[in-house]
Amino acid sequence: MRKKLAAGNWKMNGLRESLQEIKTLSEVAVKASCEVLICPPATLVQSMTSISNDIIVGGQDCHADASGAHTGDISAAMLADCGAQYVILGHSERREDHGETDELVREKTRTAWSNGLTAIVCVGESLAQREASNTIDIIGGQLAASIPDNATGENLVVAYEPVWAIGTGLTPTLDQIGEVHDFIRMRLERRFGEGVGRSVRLLYGGSMNPKNAADIAAVSNVDGGLVGGASLKAADFSQVIAALS
Ligand code: 13P
Repeated sequence: MRKKLAAGNWKMNGLRESLQEIKTLSEVAVKASCEVLICPPATLVQSMTSISNDIIVGGQDCHADASGAHTGDISAAMLADCGAQYVILGHSERREDHGETDELVREKTRTAWSNGLTAIVCVGESLAQREASNTIDIIGGQLAASIPDNATGENLVVAYEPVWAIGTGLTPTLDQIGEVHDFIRMRLERRFGEGVGRSVRLLYGGSMNPKNAADIAAVSNVDGGLVGGASLKAADFSQVIAALS
């Protein structure tokens, strides 16, 4: 049985005053039957881990190298050292803003694993790719190239985030979400074997909110959500957590 995961990606949002939201969210998380994860900006990872035992904390990226001359970057070891347990890798905003390739995401995932972090590897098609009926091919290619060998249900989570659904208020139909999630499950089982393939959690991300979370969570092979805007306020994210519980 895969435990559902409500994951919030705060992106480049959040100052120390936002930790107030975490205090409120903690009270919800302690009663929830799903796991609750927040990936704040790196500046808040340390303080977030120290104020709540009920909310799991993750990073939003890490460098592929263990350490070294990479000004402005953060290493997997640094995240782990601050108490992070997860790291989002290959988010479409990083693929777009920083030219990250599948190969780089694969390297980063290896480094995350070496430091005991669970990688949330993101995949997703653009609107043009969907309209050209290339969604499944694109997702298949990203999965094959972004995920290293040796994946397990503990070290890997896959997030399906259609690029056109992120921050737009648009979402795929439930059938479209189900089609992609079933496909990802099938590919993971084929590559890593049924046991591992069935144990990896698959998150949906892209304009998930209190209104649509329950319907999306009921789709086959959806094991949770990776939520941007609706994770910033405890009042909203609590409702997403409730829908996933
Ligand atoms: P929104 O929920 O704001 O659409 O963002 C989704 C996302 O990119 C999560 O990683």
